[in-house]
Amino acid sequence: MAVSRGHFSSRLGFILAAAGSAVGLGNIWKFPFEVGSGGGAAFVVMYLGFCFLLCFPVMTAEIAIGRRTQRNAVGAFKALNKPRWAFIGFLGLASGLLILSFYNVVAGWAFGYVIEMIMGNFDIGSQFGDFIKDWMKIGLYGIVFMGATAFIVSQGVQKGIEKAAKFLMPTLIILMILLSTYAMTLEGAMRGIEFYLIPDFSKINGQVVYSALGQAFFSLSLGMGALITYGSYLSKEQNIVQSAALITLMDVGIAFLAGLMLFPLVFSQGLEPTGGPGLIFVTLPGVFRDLGPNIGIIIGTLFFTLLSFAALTSTVSLLEVPVAYVVDEHKVPRKRAVWLTATLIFLIGIPSLLSNGASSILTNFIDVIGLAREGATDNSFMTLVAWIANDTFLPLGGMLISIFAAYIWKKENLSAELSIGNEGYAGSFLERFINFSISYLAPVVLSVIFLLTLLSKFFGIDLI
Ligand code: TRP
Repeated sequence: MAVSRGHFSSRLGFILAAAGSAVGLGNIWKFPFEVGSGGGAAFVVMYLGFCFLLCFPVMTAEIAIGRRTQRNAVGAFKALNKPRWAFIGFLGLASGLLILSFYNVVAGWAFGYVIEMIMGNFDIGSQFGDFIKDWMKIGLYGIVFMGATAFIVSQGVQKGIEKAAKFLMPTLIILMILLSTYAMTLEGAMRGIEFYLIPDFSKINGQVVYSALGQAFFSLSLGMGALITYGSYLSKEQNIVQSAALITLMDVGIAFLAGLMLFPLVFSQGLEPTGGPGLIFVTLPGVFRDLGPNIGIIIGTLFFTLLSFAALTSTVSLLEVPVAYVVDEHKVPRKRAVWLTATLIFLIGIPSLLSNGASSILTNFIDVIGLAREGATDNSFMTLVAWIANDTFLPLGGMLISIFAAYIWKKENLSAELSIGNEGYAGSFLERFINFSISYLAPVVLSVIFLLTLLSKFFGIDLI
């Protein structure tokens, strides 16, 4: 393949881009809430276990497949002479299109909140329902966000993805350290820290284990070939195992920092952490107001800027997966591929955009098609897409990628690829551990998760 498909210029560039993919809305609003409802530190321990025992090995396999073949998520399987396995890549493309279609809507909320905060509109928390219902406004924010994503991706690997990550990731980390330090100086902050970090093991049940694994997998951007794609822009001398360890550490570290920032802020105002998107979009604006009008505007604006930045490096990676496919396999020039794909995904996202109050059919879609659970408050089309893509396709994709790496491509070849730039890997404990995880642990655990999702979400059978 003589096509100049782009390359990361340095190891740091690759690590920041991949960590940028991993660090996103999943870390900053989902992780802290899941910790809260899942028994605090007990959830954190489980989440860490999954990240390192299961996700980290899967990550090394994805990157190795990408670097070995220098191709996109579909082409990689063909390049290994296993064209029949290219369906894993197509499953990944489908996941990417679906995830980005609604992820961009939520990213639009975050971006919209930056503007509300600059204007000092702290009442936006209580107006959240009306805010997300306003499809014209959110649609516009969504266009801006998708436009920014597409612009970065259109600039290519080095000048777009890598350059954006090198600016956005350090800024994000600095902002988070500033905000969490500030949050911990507030009165009552310690109650937040206790809630966050003192484990209550009695809260652990099958459901919590299930969500800890789902969270770890989504948060590390696994199961759809995003890291096959990024790995394909990596040069041979880089140490994949070490890079994957650093990416995992950064993702986990930033999720942890997000909790250190949020819980003190929320508890310092005598509030209780509430579920899901509410914690950030409903509760926080009031917290910012109570900090005082001027400081509130500053902290609030910084917070939602940070959230938008985190989302942006993730949307970039989600868009790059289908774009790399179109560029490699159909020889479409990158810029054209980017704008076409981004437009398509935006269109796919329109029902999600309308499913937060604007259209009652789409807002109650899960109920309309007869899959609603008793007492469920969120039955939107957008949630259905998340069930399909995040909860079903990703574990399925991850399981298939592991099986492929261990048994079809074969672990000897995986080991050989992971040994490049990594002296002493062959024969090491780490090699045995990664091979064990890819061959047994990941396929078994991920297929259990896949089946549990299928049964509970789509057939109404709750085993846990
Ligand atoms: N990991 C990101 C987050 O935590 C989301 C994301 C980006 C993602 N790219 C992905 C998830 C690829 C799965 C696969 O918000």
